[in-house]
Amino acid sequence: MIRVEALHKNFGNLRAVDGISFEVSEGELFGFLGPNGAGKTTTLSMISGLLKPDQGRVSVNDIDVWGSPKEAKRILGLVPQDLALYETLSARENILFWGSLYHIPRAELKAGMELWLDRVGLKDRAKEPVSKFSGGMKRRLNLAIGLVHNPRVLLLDEPTVGIDPQARHKILDLIRAIAQEGTTILFTTHHLEEAEALCDRIAIIDHGKILQTGSVSELAQVVGDGDIVTLHGAFTAAQLKTVLKNEKMTVLNAAEQSATLSLHQDGINLATLLQKLGAGGLEVTDVSMQKPNLESVFLKLTGRELRD
Ligand SMILES: Nc1ncnc2c1ncn2[C@@H]1O[C@H](COP(=O)(O)OP(=O)(O)OP(=O)(O)O)[C@@H](O)[C@H]1O
Ligand SMILES: [Mg+2]
Repeated sequence: MIRVEALHKNFGNLRAVDGISFEVSEGELFGFLGPNGAGKTTTLSMISGLLKPDQGRVSVNDIDVWGSPKEAKRILGLVPQDLALYETLSARENILFWGSLYHIPRAELKAGMELWLDRVGLKDRAKEPVSKFSGGMKRRLNLAIGLVHNPRVLLLDEPTVGIDPQARHKILDLIRAIAQEGTTILFTTHHLEEAEALCDRIAIIDHGKILQTGSVSELAQVVGDGDIVTLHGAFTAAQLKTVLKNEKMTVLNAAEQSATLSLHQDGINLATLLQKLGAGGLEVTDVSMQKPNLESVFLKLTGRELRD
């Protein structure tokens, strides 16, 4: 398990992590969702023992990460956002190099290497220099390096970034399998569908703070039960809000030429909504409607869409 209590980290005047607390229980798959610069990597770095917190405590399986770093490192695996691979070395040589930093017996390291090369599907290519690998293969090798010592707690920082959907599915299947085997997993992603499909619970984070935590269905309650309507057209946020100011609905986000609204079950329906907008002189060129999902929750909480 992972326990994070009131974690803080400043870079100069910037509050990169501003009082974050959460717990991930044993075997749980916990997602960290947030826009660029939200503080995800900084938080993971403090949990993994790479970056010293200004304040706060972190423990993994009840071992204090900053009090007993060696014991904690034995339990923790980190798969970093930025690939740390030596291009001229082979996959095996990379694993042996990085794996040697865990100070585990050589035989154990080699057994772990063969197991994880196999599980990430790189066994046949393990002798080749990494410079010959595709982006997806490099991501899989990055994963094998983080897993070589069979950690009980795994931190994955955007493990599927920049790879094609097929390669992504392979990685996600593996992450799911590892969690089912009882490994505690904290992972960050920019893909809402990925988080929705994979995570037991999710924390939405922005500006160094957790805005909301819960399962996908718990989070969905943030926007209510009503349908989510997205509008595009020739209107401003101010015009839209004026026309709809007495209606029972929630504006999740409104900008120049686009808006996302959450309808209330006992409020205005889509047809009447469009009529009112038309009567108010707002030209709507495109309308779509969907059930509440993580995207609408994210939009409501952060006021932003999540993009790659
Ligand atoms: N070493 C550093 N020195 C100064 N500022 C930093 C440093 N590392 C991170 N920051 C800043 O701290 C904030 C949080 O960065 P962090 O990398 O944790 O965000 P993130 O949520 O991982 O973003 P992304 O989705 O882009 O990976 C950002 O504003 C970033 O510019
Ligand atoms: Mg990051």
